[in-house]
Amino acid sequence: MAKNCLVGQSGGPTCVINASLLGVIKEARKHAEIGKIFGCKNGISGVIHEQFIDLSKYDDKKLELLKQTPSAILGSVRFCLNKIEDYEKILEVFKKYEIGYFLYIGGNDSMDVVNKLSIYFKEMNYNCCVIGIPKTIDNDLLFTDHTPGYGSAIRFIANSVCQIYEDTSCYQNGRVTVVEIMGRDTGWLTAASKLASLVSKGPDLIYLPECAFNLDDFINKIEDIYQKKKKVLVCVSEGIRDDSGKFLVEKFAYNQDNDVFGHMQLGGVSSVLTHIIKERLNIPVRAIELNLLQRCFAITSSKIDVDEAIRCGSYGLRQALFGQSGKMVVIKRSKKEKYHIMYRLVDVNKIANQTKYFPKEWIINDSDISSCYISYALPLMNQEIKVVYENGLIKFFKL
Ligand code: F6P
Repeated sequence: MAKNCLVGQSGGPTCVINASLLGVIKEARKHAEIGKIFGCKNGISGVIHEQFIDLSKYDDKKLELLKQTPSAILGSVRFCLNKIEDYEKILEVFKKYEIGYFLYIGGNDSMDVVNKLSIYFKEMNYNCCVIGIPKTIDNDLLFTDHTPGYGSAIRFIANSVCQIYEDTSCYQNGRVTVVEIMGRDTGWLTAASKLASLVSKGPDLIYLPECAFNLDDFINKIEDIYQKKKKVLVCVSEGIRDDSGKFLVEKFAYNQDNDVFGHMQLGGVSSVLTHIIKERLNIPVRAIELNLLQRCFAITSSKIDVDEAIRCGSYGLRQALFGQSGKMVVIKRSKKEKYHIMYRLVDVNKIANQTKYFPKEWIINDSDISSCYISYALPLMNQEIKVVYENGLIKFFKL
């Protein structure tokens, strides 16, 4: 008897979460074992509140727009699954809608939900395969070469930084420009600023959270470069920390909120640094926070990223149909010179709530990135998608 499929989106948005949704829907349509395809609104919270969308009704042509529609069309959530009544409600709703396959697209916090639900369903003898589909611009999930969402984010970052460089380098007497890039605890995104050096000279200094940030050393380097060139371009991760592990924004800025997982909402470190530079060196400064743009700027999405996100979705569903559960789809890269990848599954309990850091051996003198990173990152972002526009504006899929 056919069972229904449910898909949800969770965590911070990216350019390609909807592409993974497309992969799930397209795959589901090929299999007679699957009845309806539902989406839950705002991730797992849409299950608890029984807010389902029937995705079976959309035609293939319209769905193609999901490839260039950023963020999460089903809505997203940051949700910590702890309360027994939530588990019970989820089971009740799954039974009611006869859900036999649950695909959850998310990052390391969302994989906690995949892990907990797959265990719970087994304990309750409820037959449902739960599979995690990876996504995050942060690229910080273990066991996968990279995460869907990362390639598009670094394409935006690299292109933004080289264009910022062109702007900031035209004056004889320029200023210190500090560009702030996301990534929370890891420097994968900020490292992408180095790719700008393939076009223009790129950043003078790059700081990642993986190395303790020394303020005095930073000021000395800025002074030195400014004296020689009269302009400095610095790229910093939002999550840089001092040697005691404290975020710089935590030390100098106010109003930092925590999310349900206890992660501090970062942002503002470029302003903090430019204020300190101004105060100590009295030279012209400008802070630029790439902010949300780096997550959802679909015009510069990477083709490989979109294609892989779709395949992660379809592979995940095929594995669920084989009876796999409690696993996440990972991307394995072969060691061959030409870029070649394979999709595999890894137990989600090894990935949930864990962090994959940027390799220390790819960081040079605490403030530069090695060419090994360039070789790693280029294949993830070196092709563009063909964007459909209307009135000069990108066209989105609408539910
Ligand atoms: O997890 C992705 C991410 O974009 C991080 O890089 C960033 O710190 C965080 O999300 C910001 O989250 P929010 O949307 O809650 O501000």
